[in-house]
Order: sequence, then C-alpha cells, then structure tokens
Amino acid sequence: MISGIFSRLRERRGCHRKAISSWIGRPILLHALLLSAAPSVLAAELNTDAMVKESRVYAGQLLGQVSDALAREYKLSGPLRSVVVCKYVVPELSSAISRQSGMRVTRVSLKVRNPLTGMPDAFESRLLKQFDQRAAKGEKPEKIEHWEVVNEDEQRYFRYMKAIPVKDFCLACHGPNASISTALKAKLRSEYPNDQAVDYRVGQIRGAITIKKPI
Ligand code: HEC
Repeated sequence: MISGIFSRLRERRGCHRKAISSWIGRPILLHALLLSAAPSVLAAELNTDAMVKESRVYAGQLLGQVSDALAREYKLSGPLRSVVVCKYVVPELSSAISRQSGMRVTRVSLKVRNPLTGMPDAFESRLLKQFDQRAAKGEKPEKIEHWEVVNEDEQRYFRYMKAIPVKDFCLACHGPNASISTALKAKLRSEYPNDQAVDYRVGQIRGAITIKKPI
C-alpha cells in the first residue's frame, strides 16, 4: 500500500514536472522566437532606410535654399547686407522645412557664430569631431554623413547629420582675417561679439545639417 502511495506520488510529481517544464518551456521558446525575429521586426518597425532617404532630401533642401538665398543677396547687395540673410532668412527656411518634414532640421558647428542657433549638443559635437577626422583621412566633406537611432531621456530618436563643406564663396564671411573686409568685420563684431566662425579654409567642414526625429 505504501509503495502504491509512492508510485502515485511519483506519477503526480512526474506529471507536475511535465506541466512545469511546459510552462517554462513556452516562454523560453517564445522568447527565442521573438529574439530571432527581433532584427527584422525592428527594421520593419523603424524603417530607417526611408528615414535616411527622407533626411537626405530635407538636408539637401536646406543646403540648396540657404545657398540660393545667400548667393542672390550677395550678388544684389554685397556681403554686408547678406549677413541679414544668414541672420533672419536661414532660421525661417530651417523652421519651414522642420514644419513640413515633422523633423527638426537645422545647422550646427563646432565654431559657432550664433551660439543661440548653432550650438551642437553632445551627440552633434561628437559627430562633428568624427567628421573632421574622416575628412582628415581623405573622405570628401560633401559625401560625409552619419545616422543613428539613439535613446535620450527615455525617448527614442532617429538622428541624421550631413557635413557642410567650406566653399570659396564662404570665405568672405568665414575665412581668414585677410579675406574679410574691414566693414564686414565691424558688422560681424557688432552683431556677433562672440563670433568663432572665422579662419576656415576651402575644403574644411564648416558644420553640419542636423536632423532629429522622435520615433
Ligand atoms: C555674407 C556673409 C556670409 C557668407 C557669405 C556665409 N555665411 Fe555662414 N553665417 C553668416 C552669419 C552672419 C551667420 C550667423 C547666422 C545666425 O545668426 O544664425 C552664419 C552662420 C553659419 C552657420 C551656422 C552655425 C553658426 O556658426 O552659427 C553655418 C553652418 C554657416 N554659416 C555656413 C556657411 C557656409 C558653408 C557658407 C558658404 C557656402 C557660408 N556660411 C557663407 C554669414 C555668412
């Protein structure tokens, strides 16, 4: 009789163990399945390819519109009055593109002229330094870009940056001392007393278009 009780107990325990193992087994299996599917699920969910393409379009738009507006004003009324384009027109272009795209599209630099609008955050500073290193190793500045998905303050963001190369035309306002007229120097001094955005040479990186989108 005692052995009968034991064998019944063993049966029940066996059955119990089976039940436990199937409880444990299921989540493990499920987890494994989810893990193996994770990259494709993430890629589909985030669709970073589309965001990169979209960012390139908007970065190109801002670069193109700024340089058109600046070139037009420069030809029409010279460098002195073109400062107005940089100061008032560029922020308008940048916020129009940001509204249209639903992403923050703006410009930053390691050596800012306007600290209120052009100051980089920690991510942008790190990237701008890397861009300079990439250019020093021979990459063409106009081809340099980077994108990344980051977590900041418990929010996930898609971030994209594209280098802005210095061209001949920029030197009138961002070049070495000798390339900036006395009148313009005075204007810059009065508008931007903490100006750091000078002494650039053609082919260097002046800054970057930066795009940030919560996802
Ligand atoms: C007519 C003078 C002028 C010319 C030419 C000019 N800039 Fe600027 N740039 C400015 C001024 C003024 C600002 C500050 C704008 C502001 O107040 O936000 C500025 C700001 C910038 C900024 C934003 C970051 C910062 O330092 O505040 C970038 C990037 C920039 N310029 C790049 C360029 C590039 C690249 C060129 C050539 C294609 C160029 N600029 C030509 C006057 C000029």
